[in-house]
Amino acid sequence: MRRVAELTGVTVRTLHHYDEIGLVRPSARTAAGYRAYSARDVERLREVLAYRRLGFGLREIADLVDDPATDAVTRLRRLRGLLLEQRDRAAAMVTAIDGELEARAMGIRTTPEEQLRMFGAQLYDAIGSDYPTTRRTEPRIAARVWDALGDARTVLNVGAGTGSYEPPDREVTAVEPSAVMRALRPAGAARCLAAAAERLPFADRSFDAAMAFSTVHHWRDPIAGLREMRRVARRVVVFTYDAGDAGRRERFWLTRDYLPEFAELLVDWPSLADLTHAIGGRAEPVLVPWDCADGFFEAHWRRPEAYLEEQVRRAVSVWTRVGPEAEQRAVRGLRDDLDSGRWAERNRDLVALDAAELGLRLLVA
Ligand SMILES: C[S@@+](CC[C@H](N)C(=O)[O-])C[C@H]1O[C@@H](n2cnc3c(N)ncnc32)[C@H](O)[C@@H]1O
Repeated sequence: MRRVAELTGVTVRTLHHYDEIGLVRPSARTAAGYRAYSARDVERLREVLAYRRLGFGLREIADLVDDPATDAVTRLRRLRGLLLEQRDRAAAMVTAIDGELEARAMGIRTTPEEQLRMFGAQLYDAIGSDYPTTRRTEPRIAARVWDALGDARTVLNVGAGTGSYEPPDREVTAVEPSAVMRALRPAGAARCLAAAAERLPFADRSFDAAMAFSTVHHWRDPIAGLREMRRVARRVVVFTYDAGDAGRRERFWLTRDYLPEFAELLVDWPSLADLTHAIGGRAEPVLVPWDCADGFFEAHWRRPEAYLEEQVRRAVSVWTRVGPEAEQRAVRGLRDDLDSGRWAERNRDLVALDAAELGLRLLVA
């Protein structure tokens, strides 16, 4: 056992633990009663350790290595794919850091004021790596955004993140202040600059259109950012949230019954009228389909169990912003009510709805 521990770089204690929980059981014992690992056991241990390094939990690993539907070759291929993904992500992050270093070497440094404005970006540097797990293009909402872009040929995407809503048939330039989010952009995505909405590094009217999706609420100064978009483009399309209507907020069971702290996040948030005024446009409601593919905060309104999943919550900044205490309390409350049938009773009407009005708005100018 000591030899196996040495060879794999784990402690004897870890091996004992894996044995106790049935994850890697040595198939034999020596005459003296010591654990003896066969070549097969070591192979399994190697697989377990690779998943561990990828960040999987022990329970998840057990499911993966015991999956009866896969053979050893399939499992190795899956592992290989995951490791390559991790390598690409790390390589992209190194590239992003090189870019920052280069900018610094050239004397492009952020002022303390700009650093403060990076608030939203810092949050995404911290939580961004979980983003792609559940955040992806919702085709029905994307169609609304792309339609609103009209005949624009050149499009600036502000707070672009991983680029889920970038139209495939136009010339897109992206702007994203978080290095982690930039690094997560898929290969072949539009070119992306490190900049914040409040100070866009472009001349007036450089683009046919500027778009911003699910990002304005992260900006230090949303009005300044929207004015910047207006300055650099002749058309502006913004997908955002109407924070002013407390009545509507009351209608979303998640914030009403489990997470009242959400309201505190909106205290300094400009009204929809102010946002619309900043771009000189109009606001259109966007209903959230019951099976919305993009896992934003409101997306699972008819699939409450989803909010119990850690990975669903980690890809939505609201949960980090309210803090772990409020988050855990909300999840506990929801779990209890789902188990007892209270949630189903209270929200009976939702089952009949295919889409819900939860305050999401498309601002078009
Ligand atoms: C919820 S994500 C949305 C990303 C993307 N638009 C999408 O729909 O997938 C919010 C993004 O806004 C970015 N952000 C935060 N502060 C910003 C600022 N001041 N200017 C531009 N983007 C900002 C974050 O780094 C993050 O990538």
